[in-house]
Amino acid sequence: MTSTNGNDYMFRRVHQDSVRLVVQHWLWTHRLRYALHNMIPKQTEHLRIADIGTANAVWILELLPLMPPTTQFDGFDISADYFPAKDWFPANVSLDVVDAFAAVPEHLVGKYDVVHIRAFVVIVRDNDPMRLLSNLIKMLSKSLQSPRRMHRLPFRPP
Ligand SMILES: C[S@@+](CC[C@H](N)C(=O)[O-])C[C@H]1O[C@@H](n2cnc3c(N)ncnc32)[C@H](O)[C@@H]1O
Repeated sequence: MTSTNGNDYMFRRVHQDSVRLVVQHWLWTHRLRYALHNMIPKQTEHLRIADIGTANAVWILELLPLMPPTTQFDGFDISADYFPAKDWFPANVSLDVVDAFAAVPEHLVGKYDVVHIRAFVVIVRDNDPMRLLSNLIKMLSKSLQSPRRMHRLPFRPP
């Protein structure tokens, strides 16, 4: 696992930035009317969900009361500066420092039913998202990695 302090991030990681992320999150969910797409049945037991670039984990916090307590939420970020205190989270939430562009740690390969990422456009390096996308796909469980299943996912801009 490559862990860095994420010093090449273009924004600061201070209190006001965390507040900005919360307001941004609220605007998106208000506009979209969902945090997790409605195609994903939220009452499924034992879903494993990864949130890449989780920051202050606001997206995870939104979903936490909407999903069964058997759901495992793992948030990853290149920096822990935004992470809320570990004691504030229930046992089914973990936050860890992982660089989304580095090789995916072996224990995360094929682990997840849902891999969520957003607000990453400014972070993609050299205008090349392929390494990042391939890492995200590697994290999905093997049954979800088939191109045929991916092809069936609808995309409708809000
Ligand atoms: C614009 S914020 C988005 C936060 C959150 N996903 C949201 O939508 O509220 C981008 C986050 O990605 C993190 N980040 C930047 N580079 C990263 C990398 N290479 N790997 C993982 N996270 C990264 C930043 O530290 C920051 O917390």
